[in-house]
Amino acid sequence: MAQPPYIDPSPKEAIAPDAKAHESLDPADWSAFRVQAHRMLDDMLGYVEKIRERPVWQPIPADVRARFRSVAPREGEELAEVHAEFMQNVLPYTQGNVHPGFMGWVNGGGTPVGMIAEMLAAGLNANCGGRDHIPVEVERQVARWVAEIFGFPKTATGLFVTGTSMANLIAVLVARDAALGLDVRAVGVAAETRRLTAYTSTAVHGCVPKAMDIAGLGSDALRQIPTDSRFHMDLSALAEAIRQDREAGLTPFLVVGSAGTVNTGAVDDLAALADLCQREKLWFHVDGAFGALARLAPDLAPLLDGIERADSVAFDFHKWGQAPYDAGFILVRDGAAHKNAFALPAAYLQRAERGLAANSPWPCDFGPDLSRGFRALKVWFTLKVLGTEALGASISGSCVLARALEARIIATPELELMAPVELNIVCFRYRTKDAADSNRVNEAIVVALQESGVVAPSTTRIAGRTAIRAAIVNHRTSRAEIDALVDGVLAHGRAICG
Ligand SMILES: Cc1ncc(COP(=O)(O)O)c(C=O)c1O
Repeated sequence: MAQPPYIDPSPKEAIAPDAKAHESLDPADWSAFRVQAHRMLDDMLGYVEKIRERPVWQPIPADVRARFRSVAPREGEELAEVHAEFMQNVLPYTQGNVHPGFMGWVNGGGTPVGMIAEMLAAGLNANCGGRDHIPVEVERQVARWVAEIFGFPKTATGLFVTGTSMANLIAVLVARDAALGLDVRAVGVAAETRRLTAYTSTAVHGCVPKAMDIAGLGSDALRQIPTDSRFHMDLSALAEAIRQDREAGLTPFLVVGSAGTVNTGAVDDLAALADLCQREKLWFHVDGAFGALARLAPDLAPLLDGIERADSVAFDFHKWGQAPYDAGFILVRDGAAHKNAFALPAAYLQRAERGLAANSPWPCDFGPDLSRGFRALKVWFTLKVLGTEALGASISGSCVLARALEARIIATPELELMAPVELNIVCFRYRTKDAADSNRVNEAIVVALQESGVVAPSTTRIAGRTAIRAAIVNHRTSRAEIDALVDGVLAHGRAICG
């Protein structure tokens, strides 16, 4: 039955033809704004250029923290005043990952090229969820470069996301839907009689069990397979776990291999995992958050052999790719499976042959986000200006430094190496006379180092014992910071132990 035409019953006030609701939010004085904007740009370039003269990190004074508890501003201030506040209260108290002495967790250092590209992207204010415009083509171009770097076919699809946590979640969802069929998107996993199980190693990053949880499969359905002494997934234990699950009537669907584990930087035997997944007809996903880009370094690339056979790869350009945060990426071999997991027709997102709504499929058809910033631009600039060879050389350089750190630890009786050094992560500790005191002392050393402002490693646990963990990711880190780390650990260790 045809709908009657819509008639708005509410009375309307007459609006004067020259009425203006409000002023635009653009500067009233463009030339003054331009001068101030140049000053801000200069300050930021100066910050990066002179970063070595600053502490890596410093604690936030209570009065500075208190300034960020004020009520929402009703009236605006001058841009110059807010910038002065930024210089005084924001800039000195950041995490410190731009600094060469930052070695905690896994954080990239960024580059001035990426920074300036971010400014251009913000100026364009492109929404890269879809539609026919060049920013989407830039993203497609980067996706093709990524496919080329990892030896994937041209039909592979790729998408910028926040980080590898989101990229891993997308991979789990695509693999889930490929295993169960697309109905699961409508009926939900609860309607399924098949119980999916996935496999990874105990060294996996926590975002993978979280992805299983979010995907409705449950983190318990992720079997965490033991590792060997080098923290590589034990392949016979993996095969046995799959066999047992099949025997129990479960449905194995996914194996997640690591190209650089978060704790120690171990790279699973990706070629063997690819063989096993082919044999068992399982989706083979690689979490290569930082390590995948080691494919750009000729001396490291062979370590990752087999990644070219994966069904999907998750990684970050904001780690070893040195792009500013955030720039995660998911690459999927089977573009149709990728699209099937996310595309959803909607009247307001209808596609057209011509005009702005042309050039489907759109990025929103490959992931959960509709509104999406122009993340691709900073990576496009980084790759074009620096080139993959320079990035590969800096990745290789991080690993040379990690090996130099390993050598110093081995040569220093007061220190103990706690895990093999495969890529850029070194786990070690200061030896205490009383073993029971070791965790407390090493945790205190790391806090003291961070508060010293010279170097900032983090901690982790290896076989239940606290380790000082240095992840050399920043392209600015040099031998000087490696030596400062070792000297600092020894000095603080001796001071703490008396
Ligand atoms: C191996 C691994 N996987 C996943 C992640 C999560 O990545 P993101 O922090 O970009 O979400 C990390 C982060 O360090 C990681 O090292």
